[in-house]
Amino acid sequence: MEPINPDNVCHVPVLEREVAEWLKPSKPGTVFVDCTIGYGGHSAALARYFDAQDFLIGIDRDAEAIAYCRERFKEVPFRVSLHHRGYEELEAILKEEKVAAADRYLIDCGFSSPQIDRAERGFSFSRDAVIDMRMDRRQELTAKDVIQMWSEKELADLFQRYGEERFSRRIAKAIVRRRKEAPIETTRELADVVIQAIPARYQHQEGIHPATRVFMALRIYVNNELECLRQGIQAALAHLRPHGRIGILTYHSLEHRLCRNLLRDFCVPRRHPPGIPVRGDEEPARGVMLTRKAVRPCAAEQNRNPRSRSAQFRVMERLEDRMD
Ligand SMILES: C[S@@+](CC[C@H](N)C(=O)[O-])C[C@H]1O[C@@H](n2cnc3c(N)ncnc32)[C@H](O)[C@@H]1O
Repeated sequence: MEPINPDNVCHVPVLEREVAEWLKPSKPGTVFVDCTIGYGGHSAALARYFDAQDFLIGIDRDAEAIAYCRERFKEVPFRVSLHHRGYEELEAILKEEKVAAADRYLIDCGFSSPQIDRAERGFSFSRDAVIDMRMDRRQELTAKDVIQMWSEKELADLFQRYGEERFSRRIAKAIVRRRKEAPIETTRELADVVIQAIPARYQHQEGIHPATRVFMALRIYVNNELECLRQGIQAALAHLRPHGRIGILTYHSLEHRLCRNLLRDFCVPRRHPPGIPVRGDEEPARGVMLTRKAVRPCAAEQNRNPRSRSAQFRVMERLEDRMD
């Protein structure tokens, strides 16, 4: 792996001030789990509030991000443990750390700027490279495999399901036609095929590059992003202390919806299944949403950091268990 030059790492944490305000420790001995530590931007902002008894557990699938954070948090005055793993393995990680329940969790979904900006990671249509898109490069499946091997119907369904791409069928057809002439190897080749498949008058309608949705769908699939997010949130909810908080930054409608639904389910009283002999017919709510509406970056932040434009931040706090 090529070492990362810290001067070239430019990842601006989204809603940095708001994340730190909502998730800063409220008592000594806070266990903070940054499930997507990336290049450590949010963790560093939170670390300003940490003292010697606090404990930071940082997780990321990306080896380069973890290597960078090992340097960044080498000499901090609190305990740090970094894991090159997926946060869907949260349960196992907490067990290894002998943490039954944590006080704070942060999940900042998606990819980091260095992943997109480093051409060789093969995420971006604006930097030509072999199509790859793996966040964890130990994984075998790449986006190129999907583009080369999937049938027209499978590709169309993928673009529709994870990209909500209205021209999914035309694009899949164009990919399969082009594949018969020569393999599609690079991000630019793929972007060109997508652009040619979309009618000209629809190409710049949403103010995004016409290939954005296809690339997003491939990235979500290759990294199994939505299933990991579901498992990660569920594990965090199962291992959250009373008065503990979970904060989640999401960037597109599929993530927004999944996060909103899982947190909301935790915050509404549940009806007991019929026939179960319990007092009352409802279990009380276990959590409360602290952000009634998702927090969005202000216009100035959106202009400074275009990646933040679609961000939504939600925070939930676990209630005390009721003993009645
Ligand atoms: C938006 S970046 C996080 C940036 C970070 N908050 C910061 O301020 O530097 C998202 C990170 O999540 C990581 N990631 C995505 N899915 C993951 C998963 N299932 N488990 C662990 N890390 C994941 C990516 O590798 C990427 O580094």
